Amino acid sequence: MNTERLKEVLTQARHETGKVIIGQHEVVERALIAIFTGNHALIEGVPGVAKTLLVRTLAHVLGCDFARIQFTPDLMPADITGTNVFNLQRNEFSLIKGPLFTTFLLADEINRAPAKTQSALLQAMQERSVTIDRDTHALSPNFTVFATQNPIEYEGTYPLPEAQKDRFMLKITMLAPDRAEELTLAQRTMTREAPERLLASGAVQAVIQPRDLVELREQLGLITMREELIAYLVDIVRATRQHESVLVGGGPRATQSLIMASRAFAAMSGRDFVTPDDIKLMAVPVLEHRLILRPEFEIEGLSVTEVIQQILQQIAVPR
Ligand SMILES: Nc1ncnc2c1ncn2[C@@H]1O[C@H](COP(=O)(O)OP(=O)(O)OP(=O)(O)O)[C@@H](O)[C@H]1O
Ligand SMILES: [Mg+2]
Repeated sequence: MNTERLKEVLTQARHETGKVIIGQHEVVERALIAIFTGNHALIEGVPGVAKTLLVRTLAHVLGCDFARIQFTPDLMPADITGTNVFNLQRNEFSLIKGPLFTTFLLADEINRAPAKTQSALLQAMQERSVTIDRDTHALSPNFTVFATQNPIEYEGTYPLPEAQKDRFMLKITMLAPDRAEELTLAQRTMTREAPERLLASGAVQAVIQPRDLVELREQLGLITMREELIAYLVDIVRATRQHESVLVGGGPRATQSLIMASRAFAAMSGRDFVTPDDIKLMAVPVLEHRLILRPEFEIEGLSVTEVIQQILQQIAVPR
């Protein structure tokens, strides 16, 4: 086994996705990292930056199913998992599967739903299975959640507890397009190349079958990382717990996520080994959503990203 196929598929997937999604290269990379490491991601961005289109396009390109759930305050766990319904004709219960039974799931505004519905989602993410009336049903091994959050200031939201945020491997921030990109979008919108039309037209190819994903994921295990780099990475995560302005730092899941993300990023860059830069580039998306600053530092206007940058500057890079 070698990593050639993995690297080739990652390149093709980026290329095909790029036919629909204008710009947003880092975003596409990070979404692929979450998928290829078998994890889940938070997506943050103002309305209309193509969050939905991104996940739909990735599903198409990787040959996977797609579903979206809009989380609302009245959404109950059974609304997403499904329910057993009594079938009078057959005199038995039969399962009506909920929208969780998909492969790529866009969970929109998860913080609008009550805690018990959020935890039904979280359980499905972690176990890749769903329990309905004591029966456990397996989900796809490729089940991947992309969750968006409504800004916390909004009324009637239930902010995700830290323990739940920790289960997302990374946070993907989608910024508004720059002028050139927006111009391209405007021009394409006038033609048959409009992003949604292009996706529906068959011009975008699926680069793999869903079952290939499991095997490609195995190839990530061949991406090597020197001992000194593993120690460097561990020290970065530990420093988030010791930093004077941090109230809650990254836990062991952050360490594991940073390892996986760095390896996947190396593969994405066409290498079989991790470099210090891979770790540095992945540190912000992996750590950002897990850190909470002490209120006094937050009031001063310090941001989590700045803290992570400070830590990266303080820790000596192994030669
Ligand atoms: N970078 C981009 N590339 C291609 N299309 C884009 C891009 N940015 C925005 N669009 C277009 O903008 C529209 C909005 O996209 P989409 O519905 O995916 O946004 P969203 O982020 O999910 O919004 P909301 O937060 O309201 O759900 C789509 O028609 C899409 O074609
Ligand atoms: Mg959307």
